[in-house]
Amino acid sequence: MNQLSDRINNLSTSATLAMAAKARELRAEGKDIIGLSLGEPDFNTPDFIKDAAIEAINQNYNSYTPVDGYVDLKEAIINKFKRDNNLSYTLPQIVVSTGAKQSLANIASVMLNAGDEVILPCPYWVSYSDIVKLSDGVPVEVQTSIDNDFKMTAEQLEAAITPKTKMIWYSSPCNPSGSVYSKEELRALADVLKKHPNIYVVSDEIYEHINFKGGHFSMAEFDDMYDRTITVNGVSKAFAMTGWRIGYVGAPDWIARACNKIQGQVTSGANCIAQRAVIKALEADPSSIKYMVDEFKERRQLILKLLGEIEGFKTNEPEGAFYVFPNISSYFGKTIKGKTINNATDFSLFILEEALVATVTGEAFGNKDCIRISYAASQDEIIEAIKRIKTALS
Ligand SMILES: Cc1ncc(COP(=O)(O)O)c(C=O)c1O
Repeated sequence: MNQLSDRINNLSTSATLAMAAKARELRAEGKDIIGLSLGEPDFNTPDFIKDAAIEAINQNYNSYTPVDGYVDLKEAIINKFKRDNNLSYTLPQIVVSTGAKQSLANIASVMLNAGDEVILPCPYWVSYSDIVKLSDGVPVEVQTSIDNDFKMTAEQLEAAITPKTKMIWYSSPCNPSGSVYSKEELRALADVLKKHPNIYVVSDEIYEHINFKGGHFSMAEFDDMYDRTITVNGVSKAFAMTGWRIGYVGAPDWIARACNKIQGQVTSGANCIAQRAVIKALEADPSSIKYMVDEFKERRQLILKLLGEIEGFKTNEPEGAFYVFPNISSYFGKTIKGKTINNATDFSLFILEEALVATVTGEAFGNKDCIRISYAASQDEIIEAIKRIKTALS
């Protein structure tokens, strides 16, 4: 008999991790799988950050840290917010966590009561809806269109708001679409929120530095949004530090204190060595990671060109992150190699089995017509992967 809670029974398994597991299984059977499913830079963590970690170990950093992070790390975060985002925070407004994912889970726990609605412009990052559900919140999906670069308009936001709306969560640059909201587009959303003073915003800026057009803008930069916005960020993507597990928020202090309180009961502070190393990462000039961003930009051009040569792929031009999110719905209803493709999940599985390329179905991101392809892979792998996909579909 299933003795597990409804909470866990109703939780989905992360589709990106599930796809990675399936790809691993096929690899173990000896199949030569090209993995384009994971959201993880394929670079090493820069040496100056690794050196800081080694030094911290040798200096015997081994005790529990303050629950909300070392004070000098929080100061480095405050300086980073000022330097990169023109945002002023004080120490009590900053909470360091075990990855931005924990920051988001903290926010859901401290902000949501059962039945509170959270607006998620689709496509959204795979974990948003399940993190919201874990806190008994109700995800409200707003479908955007590839013709509007997968961005939610002010009219769509207005139409989605109900008396139960508590929050809006979005990422910019967006995982999975790569879209970046401009200052004007965010202002239009903020103008709608003016009429709804009890709605809070999570601005997930973890891909901030992987932005090919420049001009990152934070919702909290608007004076009238500062007290209603929780800015989430971390080092996983920009500094190739996914396994180090450090994320953080800048938030109104009552929200930050609540995150601190819950973290104190659930995980305590984040890993001490990683925290010491992240101080160095955040103190460094963002130009220190330009070589990775430049490489991602080249790969984006390459993959867009190659996908453009496959019939039936409709792709927007991502402005940031390291994903493309092509619409492949023109294949629905077709049977290829004896396999019928009825939806994006069928398509992604077909590509895995027939082209030996791992991608992720758009359904995991709240979009039924697209798949996500990560280009955090070498140019040779990208060329080979797209060649295989083209051959499998032809
Ligand atoms: C949009 C977005 N937010 C948050 C995260 C989580 O990042 P972290 O590794 O800091 O937990 C990811 C990771 O894929 C992401 O894509």
